[in-house]
Amino acid sequence: MNQRFDTILKSGTVVNQDGEGLRDIGIVDGRISAIGSLAQASAGEVIDCKGLHILPGVMDTQVHFREPGLTHKEDLETGSRSAVMGGVTAVFEMPNTNPLTVTEAAFGDKIKRAHHRMHCDFAFFIGGTRENVQDLPEFERAPGCAGVKVFIGSSTGALLVEDDASLRRIFQVIRRRAAFHAEDEYRLNERKPLRVEGDPRSHPVWRDEVAALMATERLVKLARETGKRIHVLHISTKEEILYLRDHKDVASCEATPHHLTMAAPECYERLGTHAQMNPPVRSADHRAGIWYGIEQGIVDVLGSDHAPHTLEEKAKTYPASPSGMTGVQTLVPLMLDHVNAGRLSLARFVDLTSAGPARLFNIACKGRIAAGYDADFTIVDLKRSEAITNKWIASRAGWTPYDGVRVQGWPVGTFVRGRRVMWQGELTAASLGEPVRFLETLKP
Ligand code: DOR
Repeated sequence: MNQRFDTILKSGTVVNQDGEGLRDIGIVDGRISAIGSLAQASAGEVIDCKGLHILPGVMDTQVHFREPGLTHKEDLETGSRSAVMGGVTAVFEMPNTNPLTVTEAAFGDKIKRAHHRMHCDFAFFIGGTRENVQDLPEFERAPGCAGVKVFIGSSTGALLVEDDASLRRIFQVIRRRAAFHAEDEYRLNERKPLRVEGDPRSHPVWRDEVAALMATERLVKLARETGKRIHVLHISTKEEILYLRDHKDVASCEATPHHLTMAAPECYERLGTHAQMNPPVRSADHRAGIWYGIEQGIVDVLGSDHAPHTLEEKAKTYPASPSGMTGVQTLVPLMLDHVNAGRLSLARFVDLTSAGPARLFNIACKGRIAAGYDADFTIVDLKRSEAITNKWIASRAGWTPYDGVRVQGWPVGTFVRGRRVMWQGELTAASLGEPVRFLETLKP
């Protein structure tokens, strides 16, 4: 049979649910049509992937792209450009924009702005508040909705639900897994005097590990009481990893490359407020604890928590400086460097960035290289050594805390639904991003 495909990716090392091996991939109409030896087949385009690894598309399930309202920092176009330049094929974006994404209108507006303007596929979280609680069951079923996100400790923006009674009301009504920023607001308020003006080393002293653990414990209790599933974002402490190990039935969790790569106090001494984020980067033993969570399978997904602020904003004196750093473009290269250093396998990386998101969020047709699935690929050169630089960063913020850091392992190609959108550092297609489809929100 002389098969014909739109595109064939030829002779790449495919990393997949059946292991790692040399394969060709045939694409038709944006979907994977065949995997194997396609030497006899023809195609509109054949792309030589010899020497490269083909991974299922990397999904970054926590980014802040700032549109609407804060577009001097980032917008959906620039943020998603940064994503695909870094090998990311889909993002889940957070609701702390202005206006907050807490109404049907604000959610619909984001979808409209994103459609065919973002370079990668996308989903948006809807913010849970005291005021919109009764509408959440309807909102969380909107196409393109990643679920409900709640800040139980305050961070950038005005979203906050800090008390158990209000949180319980949210838990009672929602159906899908909800995502949480877990730092205990009461403890954060009590400890505010511990912030030292001009010294970001005091950031993890103020927002300490107890505040994170307390919040995570409260969320797990509420999840058990109400029979709901929670996703704890950006885990920052070894105690939470050990605690969550015993609660995998109700709780999933995310780690960020920042918490796996940096350690206090060194990062604050070297980078100042550029290393300031919430929850904070902590000491090396917490970092080791999060790695233990990666090794032991406790961590479910990686999210970059891409949270851009301008250099002028970050130059304010701590604690007036805002929390957050860019990350969507550096997730893949940093983690490949960790793969090359032997800290995790390539298979575990794929589990954390493709299979993990698909499993937790019930994503339709993404997260595996399988016939019938979307042809989303992150193509990487594991041997390539490259320095991360501010110049390379496509985010409007224009900086990375890893400026000048040399890594081994580099994203060289990004495919979104069969379309090559980035190749060897160049954008190669128009922006045709579409909403990620979830099993729970598919139209009947
Ligand atoms: O450091 C952070 N920055 N943590 C968050 O949770 C929010 C984010 C932002 O939006 O700037």
